[in-house]
Amino acid sequence: MPFDRKIKIAPSILSADFANFGAEIRAIEDQGADWVHVDVMDGHFVPNLTFGPAMCKAIRPHIRTVMDVHLMIAPVDPYIAAFAEAGADVITAHVEAGPHIHRTLQAIRATGKKAGLALNPGTPAAAAEELLDLVDLVCVMTVNPGFGGQKFLDLTDKVRTLRRMIGDRPIHIEIDGGVTTGTAPLVAAAGADVLVAGSGVFSGGSVANPAAYGANIAAIRAAAEGARG
Ligand code: DX5
Ligand code: ZN
Repeated sequence: MPFDRKIKIAPSILSADFANFGAEIRAIEDQGADWVHVDVMDGHFVPNLTFGPAMCKAIRPHIRTVMDVHLMIAPVDPYIAAFAEAGADVITAHVEAGPHIHRTLQAIRATGKKAGLALNPGTPAAAAEELLDLVDLVCVMTVNPGFGGQKFLDLTDKVRTLRRMIGDRPIHIEIDGGVTTGTAPLVAAAGADVLVAGSGVFSGGSVANPAAYGANIAAIRAAAEGARG
């Protein structure tokens, strides 16, 4: 996974047809997705349940790009090995998920996977400051985690602060929640490079009509790239 700051679109399969993940993943990748974002929820850290490592392992052979696993679970540490074995490329944990995020990030890195740190909307950028040497990605949640299709929270100042804090380090800034053609320019201009989009990519399309996914991906990318100048 070579590092760059080009805009990357990461459709969240939370908005895909759960009975048809293989075909959905092939469709979004054929239509230009750069990464595949996989939302793991435990009904405890967030008020919703999705799937675990067995499902990640089952869908892994269908992913040709990057498997970006967003863990919205607490505790995290007992499950890191299972998600690594399931084939995740990036494993992201929340700073709010426990008292020892530093240890969690060390444990993710020890598996050889890229480590991501997610910040809830109420968590300041400063929470990442002492952890930057341990991370490959900072995920700024622009909705409260748990559900797709929520309204974007404008946290562009936080994104700008993180971008300054990161400087030249090879750390991605990912935005997760409410990314559309309207909101992508705000976060791209502030320094984000990975844009997760669930409803923004999947709405209007299906495996029978994948061109709609392609149009959505292209439109979000163009809006973001346009804002970068
Ligand atoms: C929210 C998830 C997001 C979600 C984004 O808890 O982490 O990845 O699927 O969905 P949209 O793009 O619809 O806000
Ligand atoms: Zn997510």
